[in-house]
This record gives sequence, structure tokens and C-alpha cells, in this order.
Amino acid sequence: MTKDELKKAAGWAALKYIKSDTIIGVGTGSTTDHFIEALATIKNKIYGVVSSSEVSTAKLKNLGIFIFDLNDVNSLDIYVDGTDEININLQMIKGGGAALTREKVLASAASKFICIADQSKKVEILGNYPLPVEVIPMAYNFVARKLVQLTHGLPKYRKGVVTDNGNIILDIHNLKIIDAIALEKIINNIPGVVTVGLFARRPADIALISSEEGITILS
Ligand code: 5RP
Repeated sequence: MTKDELKKAAGWAALKYIKSDTIIGVGTGSTTDHFIEALATIKNKIYGVVSSSEVSTAKLKNLGIFIFDLNDVNSLDIYVDGTDEININLQMIKGGGAALTREKVLASAASKFICIADQSKKVEILGNYPLPVEVIPMAYNFVARKLVQLTHGLPKYRKGVVTDNGNIILDIHNLKIIDAIALEKIINNIPGVVTVGLFARRPADIALISSEEGITILS
């Protein structure tokens, strides 16, 4: 199977977790794009979705799926999204698509977070994938210096990227994340940081991991 076929298998596997008459949180990325296509086949069964990015919103609208504003919604039954890395505790590095802030809001708002990923995303220790941090533009040099001091990693400015919230991304390279909850807290506390793409305090509840052998369910 190709990488894209594996992503498709994970995306479609999430469909059976969708309940009738609910509102679904939808993530961002190439694996989630497959989930969006799957969701379109049952769009009349659900009330609609809350989207985590302008890119996903455009795809969802194109397929005729109703979009809610999070401010108009009392509860999100499920949030479905991909990941850049996931460990055995279902803690993740996310934000490769620069949508980490809205993704984190939706993950926190949802009763259940289902992560969809091909097996290449499964790691023993988080940190090989550069850790994205969304930062307000006026603070990025200050935040970068703080990140070096506090994480001993190497922050790099993601060129040409402005987030849906008008901010920039610093990607921290050379990390080996042993205590993900502690690191998430430390980075969150730097003034100027909007969101760190470490999803440890609110990990996934279920991970659907695709491989040549089929889908493995981790929880
Ligand atoms: C976007 C994300 C994505 O979920 C992550 O980058 C995985 O993307 P893909 O499914 O394309 O591999 O966090 O901000």
C-alpha cells in the first residue's frame, strides 16, 4: 500500500465512531482530508461540523457539509484529526499544517479525540519531528531565545507561513521529549506563545493506526 492508501484507511476507519445527530470537530491535513471525504457519505446523519482551519473549511463546504462556529455550539461529540507523531500514551506532536491552535481548542472542547494516522507516525519518543510553536509576530525573536534556554532545542522560523490567526510558526528541532506534559506547560508559559503543538495534557482517547496488516486501535 502507498502512504496515501494507508492514510485513507485510517481516515475511513473513523467513520464508525460517528453518531447520528451530533456535531463533529474536524482537523487538518492529508489524513483528515480522507476522513472528510468519508464524512461526506453520511453528511445527512450529522448536524454538521466545526472546522480547525480555513483549508478544511473549504473542503467541507465543497462537499456540502454544514459548518458551525464553535461559539454557537454547546458540545462536540468527537474530534477527528491526524498527527505528526504519536507515542504509546497517545500524546502527540501536531501542527505540521500550522493549524495547531484551532486543533488544540477543538481537541479540548470535544468529549472524545480520535487520532487517525499511518504507522509511520508512531514513535517511542516524541521529538524527531520538529515541534511547532505558534507565536505572535512581534515576539518571535524573544520567544526563540527563551525556547533555546528552556528546551535546549533549535527553533527555526517557518518561512512563508502565516497561520489562520495571523501568527508565525517556530519549529523546534533536536528535541527528545521525555516528559511531554512538563514541556507543554513550560512552553505555554512563555509570553508571546499562542500554542505549542504538543498534545500531552489532552492526548487522544483513541488512535486508529493503519498498516499493511489493517487498523490497530490504541486507547
Ligand atoms: C496539521 C496537523 C496534521 O494533523 C498533521 O500535520 C498530520 O498531517 P498529515 O495527515 O498530512 O500527515 O497537525 O496542523
